[in-house]
Amino acid sequence: MIRTIYRKNGAVCVLNQNLLPHRSEYECLSDYREVVTAIKELKVRGAPLIGVTAAYGIALAMDSCPDDPDQRLLYWEEVIRSFANSRPTAVNLFWAIDRMKQVFELGPDNSADQLRKRLWQEAEQICAEDIQTNLTMGEQGVHVLPDSARVLTICNAGALATCGYGTALGVIRSAHRVKRIEKVWVCETRPVLQGSRLTIWELQQDEIPVSLITDSMAASIMQQGKVDVVVAGADRIAANGDTANKIGTYALAVLAAYHNIPFYIAAPLSTVDMNIKSGQQIPIEERGRDEVRQIGGIYITVPEVEVYNPAFDVTPSKLITGIITEAGVIKPPYIDSLIKVKGK
Ligand code: MRU
Repeated sequence: MIRTIYRKNGAVCVLNQNLLPHRSEYECLSDYREVVTAIKELKVRGAPLIGVTAAYGIALAMDSCPDDPDQRLLYWEEVIRSFANSRPTAVNLFWAIDRMKQVFELGPDNSADQLRKRLWQEAEQICAEDIQTNLTMGEQGVHVLPDSARVLTICNAGALATCGYGTALGVIRSAHRVKRIEKVWVCETRPVLQGSRLTIWELQQDEIPVSLITDSMAASIMQQGKVDVVVAGADRIAANGDTANKIGTYALAVLAAYHNIPFYIAAPLSTVDMNIKSGQQIPIEERGRDEVRQIGGIYITVPEVEVYNPAFDVTPSKLITGIITEAGVIKPPYIDSLIKVKGK
């Protein structure tokens, strides 16, 4: 299993995903501010992993917290603010921060040493749970795929986006194990190329048959009858099932509906945000202009051109056939089915 994050001698080590697929290198970060930067710069990315990384980063930060309780509280608030401001869309970040807050709030009269120990335990627990959740999701998802499935996916919702198995790619992995995958179509996923750099690298390691396509080729291969099902991940699912995921996902959902191809989202329940009624309220991150203007550090356009670069889009729930979670495959009407598994 690909290891994306671990703790080592007072540091948090992350697989630097910006170097993949050419180099597979871990960077050990001993200052929590470097962990915040690693999230912002996409060294670690993918909704569940962003949350886990923040949890490890918070534990790391508290290794150097002041002993005095008042000063400790001020320091804690500053650390939480830094992580909460790292990336806005994936709700798993705020979910993981809340879990760490619960540990902090449970033991205000704890010694600093007790608190540090419990925060590290919680971070490692969140990571272990993530793997288990993805394995369960994989088992649930296998049943929605036909035999000899030709699956299309976008971005990277795999081991690299989690603690090791993946959500959308977890479903594909589980289906491959029972010989149900004929091939996976991988959209390159402009502008950051998570599909071509990360998903291809990951699936090839497991010897799952893949074909890389540019994002604009999806329509044509669907028209030719070469796609049986679309499976994508999610960064935030609103209470009505509207789903934010990597830019380009919405286009795939519209295309899938037009061609009568089932369109599934695979995501843990920690990605469901019941505080948000519909996709319109999901904050969409806008990223730097050079992500679009450059490839591999080289300008592919007029360098000073204006750019619009939203990192995510929202797929309306009516285009989603089902949401594969650890609690089963959720079907419409999502408002009711999500309340059943998640509560209000
Ligand atoms: O900008 P990224 O690379 O963090 O975006 C990742 C995605 O959009 C994934 O599909 C999503 O986080 C689900 S990962 C299991």
